[in-house]
Amino acid sequence: MSDTTGEPTLTHDGSTPYEDYVRAEVLTHLQRPLSEDPGEMAFLVTTQVMELWFTVIVHEWRTAADALREDDLPRALAALRRSGYQLTALNASWEPLAHLTPGEFNAYRAALGEGSGFQSAMYRRLEFLLGEKSAAMLVPHRGTPKVHDELSKALHEPSLYDEALGYLSRHGEAPLPAEVLARDFQARYEPHPAVEAAWQRVYAAGEGPLLTLGEALTEVAELVWRWRNDHLVATRRAMGGKTGTAGSAGVAWLEKRAAKHVFPELWTARSHV
Ligand code: HEM
Repeated sequence: MSDTTGEPTLTHDGSTPYEDYVRAEVLTHLQRPLSEDPGEMAFLVTTQVMELWFTVIVHEWRTAADALREDDLPRALAALRRSGYQLTALNASWEPLAHLTPGEFNAYRAALGEGSGFQSAMYRRLEFLLGEKSAAMLVPHRGTPKVHDELSKALHEPSLYDEALGYLSRHGEAPLPAEVLARDFQARYEPHPAVEAAWQRVYAAGEGPLLTLGEALTEVAELVWRWRNDHLVATRRAMGGKTGTAGSAGVAWLEKRAAKHVFPELWTARSHV
């Protein structure tokens, strides 16, 4: 209870209300470095921080997807705007890892064994919401049924982009073809000329709610691309052209992944406006 001195309350029954809400005691005891190297703590915590941001962003995109399905554009735009700020914070958290020398990274790299961000289930959720579906990405999670089930459910659900295209079809000048709207949701989204033409019309109009939606999605797409590129450059600085801990070709493999456009027609339509 507050008193009249203007000082914060010091006594609580049991744990503090802050602890009850934030669970800081749990959160700050989840760090188990695998080496003796003092630099590993920053690597581990940065990775955990990014996992937390992935979790929030997945939450926002699911909110946005649900809202679009229900034709509630303001709710969708609010969630997308929040996710843009969160993506900016996520990208800023590269800083502690962006300047590693190969020697610094080598000091704990061997301790990571085959562990790699490639095995991040929350990052896959994020990619699935972008429409970048892949059943193969479930395979590493076979040993953890709960994670596997969640990912499998996300694989079969329409993505954020699928829901955006549904909204575009219902509110644009012309409906989109059934092969777009009723596509096989577990397959990777492939660009379609009718979608490019629809976004082209939206952008040619120069204003309106669909343009606002297009720009909110473009912002998301650009910030995801920035995360991928920052990851790529940090990796190139830390380990050059070596093979990745998950066994990939490393930088060469990441370059191919980062080259793909998120929400492809939002980029290609611009050439025709
Ligand atoms: C300097 C530090 C880092 C290096 C050198 C690095 C290196 C790599 C490499 C080489 C890959 C390719 C897969 C493999 O063979 O391992 C990869 C994938 C990945 N890493 Fe990192 N990584 C770093 C930091 C991080 C951090 C902090 C995260 C945050 C969670 C992260 C998340 C990912 C994800 C999600 C993938 C999969 C990308 C995809 O599927 O396209 N990485 N990383």
